[in-house]
Amino acid sequence: MIALLDKKHNRENFDCGNLLLNNYLKTQAGQDIKRKLSACFVLSNNKEIIQGYYTLSNHSIPLDFFPKQIQKKLPPSYRSIPTTLLGRLAVDKNFQNKGIGKILLIDALKRCYKVSKEMGSFAVVVDPIDRSAAMFYQKYDFISLPDSKKMFIPIQTLQQLFG
Ligand SMILES: CC(C)(COP(=O)(O)OP(=O)(O)OC[C@H]1O[C@@H](n2cnc3c(N)ncnc32)[C@H](O)[C@@H]1OP(=O)(O)O)[C@@H](O)C(=O)NCCC(=O)NCCS
Repeated sequence: MIALLDKKHNRENFDCGNLLLNNYLKTQAGQDIKRKLSACFVLSNNKEIIQGYYTLSNHSIPLDFFPKQIQKKLPPSYRSIPTTLLGRLAVDKNFQNKGIGKILLIDALKRCYKVSKEMGSFAVVVDPIDRSAAMFYQKYDFISLPDSKKMFIPIQTLQQLFG
């Protein structure tokens, strides 16, 4: 079941193989939620053991960071383009390679698409933690932002998939 992170979830043993992403869940996610900086969704089993998680936040990207052919389609008066940040996505090592990363990613993208109907968002942006993470997002048609490690998928693409 995918739900908002809550005190009942057991986050102590979470290990996705990346210390930053492990520590974020254990020590910072709760604070970020309290401060309204991000929302954290977790997939857990019936013992409340967290199998994977992702975070979402409001975000914006300067217009001139986008590839030229995309910039042309956007009004130049918008110096900053509203987006949604899928800030972190991680699956515990015990549950990797079983399709959970894909389930979490699709859940996150569907949620972003749904929110975009009520609050403008041009794209979902990710900030892959390493090359392997970038390859994962590339598999799902995320596009690299030139001169940045970030990647994005336009909401219009999600509309074609989920609309
Ligand atoms: C990247 C990660 C989220 C993938 O989760 P997962 O549950 O193991 O992935 P899935 O089993 O759902 O894989 C779905 C598909 O993506 C592919 N895939 C998984 N990891 C991949 C990677 N690093 N590069 C390219 N493809 C990848 C799988 O082969 C599978 O393809 P298929 O459907 O054609 O068989 C997970 O390995 C992880 O948490 N890694 C550490 C943290 C991390 O890198 N997070 C990324 C964002 S910061």
